[in-house]
Amino acid sequence: MTAPIDFAAIRAREFPIGERIAYLDHATVSPMPVRTAAVLAERVAALQDPSREHGLRAAYAIEARERMGRLLNAPPQQIALLSNLAEAAAVVANGLTLEPGDEIVIPEQEFSSLVYPWLNLEAHGVRVVFVPKTGPATDFERIVAALSPRTKALALSHVEFQNGFRHDMVELGELCRRHGILFFVDVTQSLGILPIDVVAWQADVVAAHGYKWMMALHGIAALYVSEAAMAKIRPTVPGRSSVTGGFELLDYALDWHPDARRYQSGGPNWLGAAAIAASLSLVEEIGIENVAKRAKAVSDRILAGLTDMPVEIATDLRPEHRSSILTFTSGSEEKDRALVAAARTADIHVGRRGMGVRTAASFWNNGVDADRLLDVVRAQLK
Ligand SMILES: Cc1ncc(COP(=O)(O)O)c(C=O)c1O
Repeated sequence: MTAPIDFAAIRAREFPIGERIAYLDHATVSPMPVRTAAVLAERVAALQDPSREHGLRAAYAIEARERMGRLLNAPPQQIALLSNLAEAAAVVANGLTLEPGDEIVIPEQEFSSLVYPWLNLEAHGVRVVFVPKTGPATDFERIVAALSPRTKALALSHVEFQNGFRHDMVELGELCRRHGILFFVDVTQSLGILPIDVVAWQADVVAAHGYKWMMALHGIAALYVSEAAMAKIRPTVPGRSSVTGGFELLDYALDWHPDARRYQSGGPNWLGAAAIAASLSLVEEIGIENVAKRAKAVSDRILAGLTDMPVEIATDLRPEHRSSILTFTSGSEEKDRALVAAARTADIHVGRRGMGVRTAASFWNNGVDADRLLDVVRAQLK
């Protein structure tokens, strides 16, 4: 038997913010673990004095891709380091060969950065078809109904940002395979907190920004492209990091990397890559299954406490569609805003999005964090 994981010790060591703040807003931005801040301090020292740079920055970038690869079940060489989700989506949207009249299917109320790169293709006659949501869910049947012979891609988030709706990815992957369309998944709200398997999903492309559940920082993102999908996506932002020759060879040969690094452009965000490597080392030490289980336990405690309060749960509660995000509403935007503000005054951080008050618990949160939030909700809505 393996020893139980000491989450209290991890919290005390890595997240000193927990001493003061009930931080339940990871879907907006994650606090950075202490170990990551230490790595970045050393990296900044090497920027102040470049004579201290002995190739570590490249080593961290390799480590980041290896760690993300394990969490995605993908070979690290199929992962490119980019800067954000919008850029990753644009690399794919602009790299596909699409004809006027072709269609891209996206659920409505998806995050804007996932939508704009496809909408931008409307100038070339490509149409975005939005799938209507039904209450807290995005129904599989409605996605099926939105497909047509002109559909070329399905783009959606594994976990939706507003209420944490989690799709059945295996079912969607099979659907895309049957229809011969590209399957693009935004895992910004799941990579680092939920198990992911791009092989089981049959995903062509998966991308995530690093400042949420990967606990890194803004301006570093991952783009996974399967080997098969690479044949369909031309590199459209070429630079020295896209080609095998690097920046020293001035023969300007467009020798693309044989793997997904061809979708990179110029010099990478080395600090961001080091932050991902350091933060995901914590996730891997604990194990992604344990990480997910623990976060869900905190979320479940919030949910249980909310059942006798005058709120409506805006999250789909079917277990297979749950994630670390749990959203509820008082029924009034004004009251929801007041609640979030009152919580903030009491050092409790939650978010507010269109569907209401968004809670997003991570593995290092505990029952006290949940109870502190519940106390505020009770007091505000009595
Ligand atoms: C689902 C999802 N995708 C992407 C992003 C961020 O997009 P970008 O990386 O373009 O800033 C967010 C931020 O909230 C998000 O929730």
